[in-house]
Amino acid sequence: MNIQLDYSITIDEFLEMVDSVGWKIYSELQVEKALENTMYMVKATVDGELAGIGRVVGDYSIVCILTDICVKPKFQGKGIGLRITNELKKLIETNVSEGEKMQIELTPTAGNEAFYAKAGFKYRPDKITGMYLWIKK
Ligand SMILES: CC(C)(COP(=O)(O)OP(=O)(O)OC[C@H]1O[C@@H](n2cnc3c(N)ncnc32)[C@H](O)[C@@H]1OP(=O)(O)O)[C@@H](O)C(=O)NCCC(=O)NCCS
Repeated sequence: MNIQLDYSITIDEFLEMVDSVGWKIYSELQVEKALENTMYMVKATVDGELAGIGRVVGDYSIVCILTDICVKPKFQGKGIGLRITNELKKLIETNVSEGEKMQIELTPTAGNEAFYAKAGFKYRPDKITGMYLWIKK
């Protein structure tokens, strides 16, 4: 299996990926704006076929958010999600100088906590509990 990582995601690829895992489909305009304002994005292809994506948004300094990590069902369980996440972590690290720290936040969907733990993320509900709010119109 030839897994290749690239650093761009088109609107169609983004929509194909989120659809493949049953997430809400956004409008093309909303995706275009989101991708334009993304810090880092990584796409994985397997033998030329789109297999997974992930991206990071943030301020390049103190905080960023890992989001939209998804792998097509037929490619899950082959280490692709972890490769994408680790690659994004490496890109984020380039913003951190000696003596500084930067937080990567994420809100895992239920059942995927162990996946992110494999990528080094900590779950400490005694200290921090993630929360979220959707703004809908
Ligand atoms: C979650 C997801 C991104 C994982 O990607 P993946 O390519 O299937 O995961 P990997 O094969 O890289 O798994 C890496 C390790 O995490 C483990 N793992 C993966 N998903 C897991 C889960 N849900 N629960 C527990 N462990 C999990 C794997 O067993 C593997 O462990 P190993 O290294 O000991 O063998 C993928 O299943 C997915 O896209 N799911 C649907 C969308 C989604 O929910 N995304 C997360 C949003 S927060």
